[in-house]
Amino acid sequence: MSASPSPETGRAVLRALLRERSLLGPLRVLAKHLGRLFQIPLPSFHPYVVFGPEAARKVLVTERHKLLWRNPDPVADLLRRGVLVVDGEEHDRYRILMEPALHPARLSDYTQMMIEKTDRVTAQWRDGQVVDMLVEGRKIALLIILQALFRRDAWDDLPHIWHPILKAIEFISPGPWILWRTIPRPGYKRPLRELDQYLYSMIAERRQQMQRAGRQPFPLLSGASSSGDLPSDMLQHLIDAGLDDDTIRDQMLTMLIAGHDTSTALLAWTFALLGQHPDVFSRLVNEVQNVEKSPLLDQVIKEALRLHPPIHIANRCVVEPITFEQGTVPAGERLFFSIYLTHRDPAIWDDPDAFHPERFAQGRKVPPMSFVPFGGGPRACIGSAFGQAEARIVIAHLLRQFHFEPIQPYRIRPHMGATLEPRPGVYMRVRRRNKPQ
Ligand code: HEM
Repeated sequence: MSASPSPETGRAVLRALLRERSLLGPLRVLAKHLGRLFQIPLPSFHPYVVFGPEAARKVLVTERHKLLWRNPDPVADLLRRGVLVVDGEEHDRYRILMEPALHPARLSDYTQMMIEKTDRVTAQWRDGQVVDMLVEGRKIALLIILQALFRRDAWDDLPHIWHPILKAIEFISPGPWILWRTIPRPGYKRPLRELDQYLYSMIAERRQQMQRAGRQPFPLLSGASSSGDLPSDMLQHLIDAGLDDDTIRDQMLTMLIAGHDTSTALLAWTFALLGQHPDVFSRLVNEVQNVEKSPLLDQVIKEALRLHPPIHIANRCVVEPITFEQGTVPAGERLFFSIYLTHRDPAIWDDPDAFHPERFAQGRKVPPMSFVPFGGGPRACIGSAFGQAEARIVIAHLLRQFHFEPIQPYRIRPHMGATLEPRPGVYMRVRRRNKPQ
């Protein structure tokens, strides 16, 4: 592995930090100077960062047994026994319970609902109004995930859960706690409690509904299935498996956060990039009006995921030394596999920082394990098919219904929250289309 950064690299890191006001710039500089494995040179926090196809294969697939997903951090504090943060058999058990609701074969059940939720949000838009697609995208994504997984029509809930959800996201976003793990963090207790109350009341309501229907929870794996007028959604699967309320809350919160914050970021980045590339924007608008399944829309979504992967790192704890071409990371260390740096590696991608959706055109080959916005291996994103279908359906529907005009160019920068978010927002002037163009 390369030696620690030279003074010249240090200066380049500082310049990138000041220019971009985000850690992504410094990460790109370190990658350029030090290669595909390096250590972040902070005083009390020095995780290893690794990227590229070899690292993706080892971290996500072939040598994942040398790593733990679970880290003592605010994500684990919030999600407790959530499928995203536990390891081993416990993880596999929860994952099996949650897969049916997100199985690709079920996606067509959700199409109409996704369109209706989008309409519900856009019904409030006035002609000529400037909207922030980061905010509007979040409303749409929240309504969709709550309906799909817990059969909850959450329109009336939005005003109450909006703030608690944003606080939960802020709680798990990188911050000073990285350097000082036990730093006091006032202001979270109440909103997090409100979010818990919301989830626990949904569980209680469903249990009451089951009681009224004369049905007891039973282990799903015994072969029985949901019946009667009870929904066969994810919440029902979790109850039927005999999980207690706390564990069900952990899975629900995991799905609520992981399943909407990512989609929100993807939706917002796609609009941000379209706003910055009017030629692609008008070709896309034209295509979605005229064809049912637009190939260009798929390419644009993939290119947005490549340039701004909502989950930009996979965070691991090394339990057995793991060796890459550039060196070995010892046990006990924190390891970040950088999806972001993999997606911008000049050894893989031509003109890596440029928006070229056609790189994903049919017939063009992307090298294996080079495009990994949903991770890979057995712990790849459980919602990847759902999330991609959602993006396609919602964006196509929005473009068919509305004319979007980006407001005066302003700087949009990636913010490292729980996901990579376009800040300060994605502002667009909207006008309803009267008839198809
Ligand atoms: C654009 C949308 C999405 C992106 C880019 C995305 C990205 C990812 C990535 C990169 C991982 C792997 C993280 C790692 O290896 O450390 C992951 C895992 C996960 N995602 Fe997603 N995700 C998206 C949508 C969703 C949706 C819609 C859901 C739920 C409905 C979801 C739920 C999860 C869960 C529960 C895991 C953990 C899986 C496990 O550990 O077994 N994600 N996601």
